[in-house]
Amino acid sequence: MKSIILRSPGGLHNLIAIDQDAPAAPAAGQISVRIHASSLNYHDYSVVSTDGWPVDGRIPMSDGAGVVEAVGSGVTEFVPGDHVVSCFFPGWLNGKPTSGNFSTVPGDGIDGYAREMVTCDVTSFTHAPKGHSHAEAATLTTAGLTAWRALVVEGNVKAGDTVLVMGTGGVSIFALQFAKFMGATVIITSSSDEKLARARTMGADHTINYKTHKDWGVQVRNLTGGLGVDHVIEVGGPGTLPQSIEAVRVGGNIMLIGVLTGYAGDVPTAALMIKQVCLQGLIVGNRQQQIDMVRAIDATGFHPVIDRTFGLSEIADAFRYQASGAHFGKICLEF
Ligand SMILES: NC(=O)c1ccc[n+]([C@@H]2O[C@H](COP(=O)([O-])OP(=O)(O)OC[C@H]3O[C@@H](n4cnc5c(N)ncnc54)[C@H](OP(=O)(O)O)[C@@H]3O)[C@@H](O)[C@H]2O)c1
Repeated sequence: MKSIILRSPGGLHNLIAIDQDAPAAPAAGQISVRIHASSLNYHDYSVVSTDGWPVDGRIPMSDGAGVVEAVGSGVTEFVPGDHVVSCFFPGWLNGKPTSGNFSTVPGDGIDGYAREMVTCDVTSFTHAPKGHSHAEAATLTTAGLTAWRALVVEGNVKAGDTVLVMGTGGVSIFALQFAKFMGATVIITSSSDEKLARARTMGADHTINYKTHKDWGVQVRNLTGGLGVDHVIEVGGPGTLPQSIEAVRVGGNIMLIGVLTGYAGDVPTAALMIKQVCLQGLIVGNRQQQIDMVRAIDATGFHPVIDRTFGLSEIADAFRYQASGAHFGKICLEF
């Protein structure tokens, strides 16, 4: 089978296509899956572009979707032919988070899905939504579940709420779509007026160009009659958090998800306290939350937005395209 491995010390030029033996038949409690698609996340880019990546031969990519080929004894959840999608935390099945690092995450701490076949524990996958292509299903593992957990699980979003979504990348476009089907009003920012126009066609109620409006937090407050938004999907990090705090309502939620502007910085803590804001960090979600999200997707006829797809051997080009920032929604690999 074809696989992509990341040679140490990392970098896109060290993504190498190889032929490997097919994995062993599934043991008890395992399944074998033929992988047909993956999708690119900022996290995957961080792994493959790390200068000094320590593990020689790691198979990258956290997201994987495909078809069950065989099941081991004791497996009742899947049968051969089922369409499945991988879990970001294969061992976090339910309840509170069990990990504060990436040591168990496919494509980082363990081998991921830039390969044609895998045999693994049954908990590494859930059913995929009905009628989704493999590429569409693959987008759910990381970006989809992160947006779902931030808005629905932790944020308890409800019809009539107002949601601020930042940028038009993978997590943010999922957040726009989920917020709209939950009945919320959405304000979205972008560096591109063309992308904002496209977001409006998807139901975004208000749009702000964050390059031309550096005080976008104030703009958001003005759009909400001075009140502020109920939920902020914060993908920027330290460079955007002060404006997010400006934009959020008293008693609102900020879901701290991303690191697009860096890993540490000054935070106006007094403003957070005075506004009685809930600031929550989160990393993707658990397997049960993914099952719940897939059920909701099945019920609504929702489809993710895929900007562009590449072949498995074009993985480095796909990451270069992601780094260019031209995309709207998700970039996928299909194989
Ligand atoms: N905690 C988690 O569980 C989790 C899960 C997934 C992702 N993340 C994080 O969330 C972030 C986004 O990930 P992704 O996979 O969605 O990335 P992505 O698809 O590559 O999207 C990045 C987009 O963010 C926007 N952006 C860049 N800088 C910005 C800024 N200063 N202010 C506002 N928007 C900005 C840009 O949109 P425009 O082109 O429209 O300007 C860009 O296209 C990353 O930091 C990633 O690590 C975290």
